[in-house]
Amino acid sequence: MENRYPIDEAVKNYEDVDSWKTIIFLYNSALKEMETKLEILNDEFQHVHKYNPIEHIKTRIKSPESIVKKLKRYGYESTIENMVKYVNDIAGVRLICSFTSDIYRLAEMIGNQSDLKVLSIKDYIKNPKPSGYKSYHMIVSVPIYLSNSVADTKVEIQIRTIAMDFWASLEHKIYYKFEGNAPDYISRDLKECARMTAELDDKMLLLNEAIQKCIEEEASREAGLIEDVVRNLVNIK
Ligand code: GTP
Ligand code: MG
Repeated sequence: MENRYPIDEAVKNYEDVDSWKTIIFLYNSALKEMETKLEILNDEFQHVHKYNPIEHIKTRIKSPESIVKKLKRYGYESTIENMVKYVNDIAGVRLICSFTSDIYRLAEMIGNQSDLKVLSIKDYIKNPKPSGYKSYHMIVSVPIYLSNSVADTKVEIQIRTIAMDFWASLEHKIYYKFEGNAPDYISRDLKECARMTAELDDKMLLLNEAIQKCIEEEASREAGLIEDVVRNLVNIK
C-alpha cells in the first residue's frame, strides 16, 4: 500500500475523531498484531520441536497518567507528537520464558520477521542494570493495515525468564515503595537475589540440556530395538 505513515501522521487521517482515542486504537491494534505473531511462532515451535519457548505473554497499554509523567520527566510538553516520538513503551509486550536460551531464540525469530523493523535492542542480560535488573528489550515498529493507509506503530518487547520476572516484580514494588531510595540493606539483598536468580537460570538451563540429552538417547535406543525386532522378523520368514 502506498500510504504508509508513522503513527502521528496516521492520526491526522482521522480528523473528526478524538486523536487520543485514535492513538490508543492504533497501539491496541499493534499489540494484537504482535500477540498473534508471537503465538504463531510459539505454536510452530511446539509443532516442530514439541516444546514452547514462551511460557506466557503479557500485554499492556501505558496509562495516560504514566505517559504524561514520562514526558514531563524527559522535559517535553504533553502533545500527541511528543508521546509518539519519545515514549517508546506506550504499547508493551512481555514474553516470559523458561530458559535464557529461549530469550535469544525468540529475539532472533522476531528480528527475522520481514514486516517488523527492529528500532533498538538493549541486552540487560549481558549488561545488567546497576540495580541487578536483567531482561532483553527490543523496540520494534509494527505495520498496521488500515482501510486506506498503513501506520507504523512502535511496540516495546521485554523478554525475560520466569526467574528474572519474579525478581523484577519485587524490585519494582520496592522501588515504588521507597521512591528509588531504598535502605542499603534492601538494595544489597536485592542484588544478592539477582545473583541467585542468574545462578538458578544457569543451573536450570544445564539441567534441561541434560534431560533433553537423556530423552534423545532413549529415543534412539528404542528406535534401535524396534529395528532389531523387525530384522529378526524378516529373518524368520
Ligand atoms: P524507561 O525506564 O521506561 O524510562 O525507559 P528507558 O529508555 O530507560 O528504557 P529501558 O529499556 O532501560 O527500560 C524500559 C522498561 O524496562 C521500564 O519501563 C521497566 O519496565 C523496565 N526496567 C528497566 N529498568 C528496570 C529496573 O531496574 N527494574 C525493574 N523492575 N524494571 C526495569
Ligand atoms: Mg516502561
